[in-house]
Amino acid sequence: MKPIGSSDKMQLIRSDIRGRVYEKSLEMIKQGIHITRLNTGNPATFGFGMPDSVRNALLNNADKAVAYCDPRGMDDARQAIIAYHESRGIQGLTEDDVYIGNGISELASMICTCILSAGDEMLIPLPYYSLWTNAVYLAMAKPVFYHCDEKNGWVPDVEDMEKKLTPKTKAVLLINPNNPTGQVYPPAAVQKVVDFARKHELLIISDEIYDRLIFDNAPFESTAKLAPDLPVITTNGLSKSHIICGFRCGWAVISGPRDLTAELNRNMFKLAAMRLCGNALTQLVIPAAMNDPESTIEMISPGGRLYEQRKAAIEELDKLQAEGLIEYNAPMAAFYLFPKVSDRIKVKDDIQLAFDLLESKHILIVNGTGFGWPDPDHFRMILLPEPDELRKSIRDIGDFLRDYSQE
Ligand SMILES: Cc1ncc(COP(=O)(O)O)c(C=O)c1O
Repeated sequence: MKPIGSSDKMQLIRSDIRGRVYEKSLEMIKQGIHITRLNTGNPATFGFGMPDSVRNALLNNADKAVAYCDPRGMDDARQAIIAYHESRGIQGLTEDDVYIGNGISELASMICTCILSAGDEMLIPLPYYSLWTNAVYLAMAKPVFYHCDEKNGWVPDVEDMEKKLTPKTKAVLLINPNNPTGQVYPPAAVQKVVDFARKHELLIISDEIYDRLIFDNAPFESTAKLAPDLPVITTNGLSKSHIICGFRCGWAVISGPRDLTAELNRNMFKLAAMRLCGNALTQLVIPAAMNDPESTIEMISPGGRLYEQRKAAIEELDKLQAEGLIEYNAPMAAFYLFPKVSDRIKVKDDIQLAFDLLESKHILIVNGTGFGWPDPDHFRMILLPEPDELRKSIRDIGDFLRDYSQE
């Protein structure tokens, strides 16, 4: 028998977040080397703990989760999700519009399978978050990347969207607040995307998983609030806001005129029912988590870990920027950063840059090309270590870049 080969689709699937450099870091860890992992947004691995509200809800209710539940999710959980999105200004939701899944990661594939036929296209922000790109490939469709404008807070470039539009374009994806750039789009920028979608009759998918992790009250509007007349799928979840990435707890909410969304809703139900239901244990914590915004607010307020880490990072990064080693947009939400390495460092291969940084400073970052960035001059790092460790890592990155060249 021949070895099992790849399907055509698998040739396209890419995840540099857990790619070759990551594998090398695992080898180094096995050899006993301490690696500062600035590669994945997994807060619990940096000592963040889940809130008591979540722990108690799980422990006190576990018996309620032994049966398969409604394919869309448990009633109490869906009601809590509706109340949350109504508070964000989305109108007219019912329990039939909510789908709870094993993280947005599961729902992304369900959504793309529902809306895309082979050869269809979906507009995806560049730099991209690979989940959505891969989900489009798995649906045998084509991700088409639109630029976000680095010089203008990484906002979506609607003119570029216009250029990338074809008769096969079915949907446009927004990730706001954004991974990997850490930016929150001003409502006027979101409005432009909504107007574009309206003009071209496109479905909008708005991934808002970081909407509770916004710093300094930066203005944010949920896309669906600005588009009550359009079909919108809003995704969100508890992985980051309540530090339960491993629970796998996310959801999708379908809004907009019912005559436009009825078939989409039926298809989502079919796929949800195909896997019987999402993990019921994690759904038990949704009402408690939605009633406990305080634990999240604490993290992003002065004295809270995310706030202080971001502050420390900005202080150090500003120095690297003043020295001309990097250029960056200060993050406004979540814990990601997508800096540009100065042109004078002349990076030709950003995977090599990540390897070299790993070997010389034991710091793991992700190469920018792993987010589809066309030039090898960006990288993504996360801001999850405690302030002192983060400061040291950023200084070490500065020391490394100061002497580095690929010429
Ligand atoms: C933009 C974005 N969407 C979705 C996800 C995945 O979320 P989940 O844990 O709900 O699968 C992540 C995780 O990092 C993310 O950054």
